[in-house]
Amino acid sequence: MGWGALASVGTFAYGDQTSKNMELVERDLALPNWNADGFRIGLLTDPHLDSEEAVIRTKLAVGAVLAKKPDVLVWVGDYLTSAAPKNLENVRETLALMNETSIPSYGVLGNHDYWSRYFPLVRSAVTSSKMRLLRNETIEMDGVRICGVDDALMKKHRPDLVKGDRNTIVLLHEPDFVEDLAAGPSVTLSGHSHGGQICMPGGIALHTPRGAKKFVSGYYPDSHIPVYVSRGIGTTGPNWRLFCPPEATILTLRGA
Ligand SMILES: [Fe+2]
Repeated sequence: MGWGALASVGTFAYGDQTSKNMELVERDLALPNWNADGFRIGLLTDPHLDSEEAVIRTKLAVGAVLAKKPDVLVWVGDYLTSAAPKNLENVRETLALMNETSIPSYGVLGNHDYWSRYFPLVRSAVTSSKMRLLRNETIEMDGVRICGVDDALMKKHRPDLVKGDRNTIVLLHEPDFVEDLAAGPSVTLSGHSHGGQICMPGGIALHTPRGAKKFVSGYYPDSHIPVYVSRGIGTTGPNWRLFCPPEATILTLRGA
C-alpha cells in the first residue's frame, strides 16, 4: 500500500472514531434579560436515528445529560433522515428514555423530519413519549419561558408568535433564522449544522447547510438574540465525522 492510500485509511479510521467519541460540553452562558440565575438546560439535537450506531450514540448522549440533572432537557430537531419503519421505531425507543425521568423535556422539529416524506408517521413517533413537541408554542416553567419554533426551512415557523422579554429561551432548529425574530428573548438554542460534520483540524467547517451558514458551532453572544449552536449527535450523508465530535450539552444560564 502506498503512502497516499495509507494516509486515506488513517484519516478514515480517525474520522470513524471521531463520530463515536461523544463530547459532553458544559458551559455557563451570560445572557441579557435573564434573572433565573443557575437555571440548567440539557440540549440534544440532530440524532438522525437511521442506524443502530446512531441509537447507541444517542442513548449515550441522553444518559450523559440526564446524569447531570438539568432543570429541563430540550431537543432541537432532525430525529431521523428517512422514515423507514425501523427508523421510526428507533425514534420511539430512544425518546421513550424521557418516560423514565422526572426531568421535563420539550422538542421542536427540523427540516429532515419533514423531508423524510411520511411526516404524519414521524410526528407520531416524535410525540410517542413524555417529551412534549412544541410547534410555534410557548410553555412556562419555574419562571422561565420556552418558545418552540417550528421548522424555518419548511416555512412552518411563526416568528410573530415568539414573544418574550425576561427569561425566554427559543428553540429553533436552523440558527440563521434567528434573524427573523424580534429582539427580546434571552437566548436561542439550535443545531442543524452538525458543526460542519467533516472539518479541518481545529473544527473548521468545510461546509454547512442553508440555515447554518452564519452560526455554525458554539456561542454567539453578539447576535441581537444570543445564539448557541450544538454540533449535535448524528450524521447525514456519510456516517462519519472528522475533527468535529458529536456533542451533548449542558448549559448553565446566568444573567449578563
Ligand atoms: Fe437539519
